[in-house]
Amino acid sequence: MRQNLLRADSALLSYPIREVVEIGKQLETLGEFNMIWENIGDPVAAGETVPGWMHDVVQSQVATDQSFAYTETRGASAARQYVLDHFSDKKKCTLNDILFFNGLGEAINKVMNNLPKETRVLVPSPTYPSHATAESMHAGCSFISYSLDPENDWEPDVTEIENKVKYNDNVVAILVINPNNPTGSVYKRETLEKIVAIAKKYDCFLIFDEIYHHMTFDGVKTTLLHEIIDEVPGISMKGISKDIPWPGSRCGWIEVYNAENDANFKGFIEIVLLTKMLEVCSTTLPQIVLPHLYDHPNYPAYLQGRIEKYQRRADEACVFFADFPEVRVNKPKGVFYLVVELLACPKNTLESINKEVRLFLDKIENDNTPEDFQFAYELMGSQGICVVPLTGFGSTVRGFRMTLLQEDDALFSETLKRIGEAIKAYYPVEIGT
Ligand SMILES: Cc1ncc(COP(=O)(O)O)c(C=O)c1O
Repeated sequence: MRQNLLRADSALLSYPIREVVEIGKQLETLGEFNMIWENIGDPVAAGETVPGWMHDVVQSQVATDQSFAYTETRGASAARQYVLDHFSDKKKCTLNDILFFNGLGEAINKVMNNLPKETRVLVPSPTYPSHATAESMHAGCSFISYSLDPENDWEPDVTEIENKVKYNDNVVAILVINPNNPTGSVYKRETLEKIVAIAKKYDCFLIFDEIYHHMTFDGVKTTLLHEIIDEVPGISMKGISKDIPWPGSRCGWIEVYNAENDANFKGFIEIVLLTKMLEVCSTTLPQIVLPHLYDHPNYPAYLQGRIEKYQRRADEACVFFADFPEVRVNKPKGVFYLVVELLACPKNTLESINKEVRLFLDKIENDNTPEDFQFAYELMGSQGICVVPLTGFGSTVRGFRMTLLQEDDALFSETLKRIGEAIKAYYPVEIGT
């Protein structure tokens, strides 16, 4: 090429949830076994059956001519009206403040990429990787983050947030993921109110990724941004990938709150809308289906059944890992993931499924491989289980994230047992002895 086509900051591009799959696929071939995929938050891919009534709803909308047309750039007005009536707050948000995207992934990128390069969004650590990668690609350097504290049920460190905002004028927004991927925590209202107060004090806006707002366990209630935001400008991000669940629909949206309170913030949202206009609109079908799915008489019981299953899985896993001094687990309060923190994680190898697998692992593991990536590779090569290393979520805490999605009770128990065997074999000396 007459000019270099590679951006200098392209090394910042990463999405470990899928990258680990590439390695897993090669190991499957070399070891001639079937991997248990514990890496991705897709209930359908994990074997959950899409109920017949959902297929019927989608089919009835496919049969309309409307589903073949473009929508308004902001999104189909019936879908936006549904979101406004059911998930938002009309005192802080209007129909025009709801914008649909092809998945929340697109919304995340549109919001981050349209900020001026020098401005920064403070993201949590660990975080859902799309946020961190979009933030760092937009800024052209590493993302900036605040810690979620495993010693405090993974709640955000509010003092750290305040200091990072106070001493860095370039921070214009604070991102909160609640309920949280990867940790499964659902934040206390007081914690969230403190974050809102920081945004207010330092004239920042808030981004709350609330895509898991329906996924909380028994007795736990999530506090939504619109309930506490007061006068502060903010964005709630939601979508249908997790709760319907229809991740393949690529359908998510933002609800913009208090846009009228700040002309500069309002101008920024108009730019986000203009960049969406260049693409005309998001895919029509999922938007016109959305109100019919959420409003279906079978939906509440169906959702409840799924949540109860995740809760059962979380209970079983927490009881299981309680016997392991090598790890720490905080019981999830929602979502469908479990983070297992690897305490004092050494670098080690495990007996591989065969010689080819060992040779491959020896090739990819080196001095620069973070400890928890090495554990994840060895777990794949020895037990045939694919999890995502926690440092892949932009975290300094070592560990891994598995899912609670497994449909088969026996296979879930077997997965835990095999992970347990790998942990025991990986640690040369039992912690605490
Ligand atoms: C916290 C969080 N935000 C956003 C997304 C992306 O959702 P979508 O499928 O709508 O792109 C995910 C997907 O796993 C997620 O966990």
